[in-house]
Amino acid sequence: MSSIIDWKRLEREASAVRARAYAPYSRFEVGAALLTKSGEVYVGCNVENASYGAAICAERAAVAQAVAAGEREFVALALVTGADRPTPPCGICRQVLSEHSPSLCVRSFAAGQEVEYTLQELLPHPFSAADLD
Ligand code: THU
Repeated sequence: MSSIIDWKRLEREASAVRARAYAPYSRFEVGAALLTKSGEVYVGCNVENASYGAAICAERAAVAQAVAAGEREFVALALVTGADRPTPPCGICRQVLSEHSPSLCVRSFAAGQEVEYTLQELLPHPFSAADLD
């Protein structure tokens, strides 16, 4: 599956939206590009707030964009940061991504390196709708 994904395009889109990140507190700017099953790409950047806990991560911003456009099934996520090595999504984003696409393929890009993860390996035991029964 991963082989037919246009990762170059996803990296480019994540990198472009990263330029719009609002991260004056952490200075850790993140861009995310989410490929849906239908082939569309939705992007998001992190948006911080003076009330620090109100920050939203780039990944969840991209999910919100996609869901608002009527998309709920995702295939791949590219992340671009300015870190000195590729970094994985945070725990809250893993949980949110897992709701829609437990077998999502995630690639993180930073400092000229890239690391690929499956969401299953990042979050092997998500809380799910079945746990509400
Ligand atoms: N952040 C993301 O947007 N995505 C990640 O994968 C890691 C963390 C944001 C949250 C906060 O604005 C800043 O990066 C530092 O944690």
